[in-house]
Amino acid sequence: MSLPICTYGNPVLRKKAEPVAEINDDIRALAKEMFETMYKEQGVGLAAEQVGRTERMFIVDIPVASDTDDASGERENPEIEMPLVFINPEITGHSEEIQIGQEGCLSFPGVFATVERWYEVDAEYTDLEGCRKTIHAKGLLARAIQHELDHLDGILLVDRMSPVKKVAIGGKLKRLVKETKQAL
Ligand code: NI
Repeated sequence: MSLPICTYGNPVLRKKAEPVAEINDDIRALAKEMFETMYKEQGVGLAAEQVGRTERMFIVDIPVASDTDDASGERENPEIEMPLVFINPEITGHSEEIQIGQEGCLSFPGVFATVERWYEVDAEYTDLEGCRKTIHAKGLLARAIQHELDHLDGILLVDRMSPVKKVAIGGKLKRLVKETKQAL
């Protein structure tokens, strides 16, 4: 069953997520519902807070067609199998190189902004089987990991966009907050 998405203005999006103590049926059911929600909404990543939960956990599924370097056309992460569930994730290292790219977020429908992210990241996380894993990610996958990890710390797309962009879409953001609060 898919879940409703919490949009900008919902206070849960500003909460700091709580570490997951145990991978139990509740967590497995949450992961399943998060995938159903993400695929229904056609996203490539989703954090637990976006469905109103505070577990330190997110999911990512980058389609093969999007996992390519713009310049060379080569796969960025050919060895990494999707989809991925990140429980208690941490970024443990990153490239010096920064990549500027367009980002959207299911909690900000219709909003896209350019955001600077590290081009490559190393991350550690626990998977749904309870194994601690490491991953070296590039490009859009690295961007998605950074975006979703931000969610777990209560940091949102609106905090990462340029002040100029934030002003430019100020009216849209205000309307979104108003709609969100009315629906709560
Ligand atoms: Ni997001």
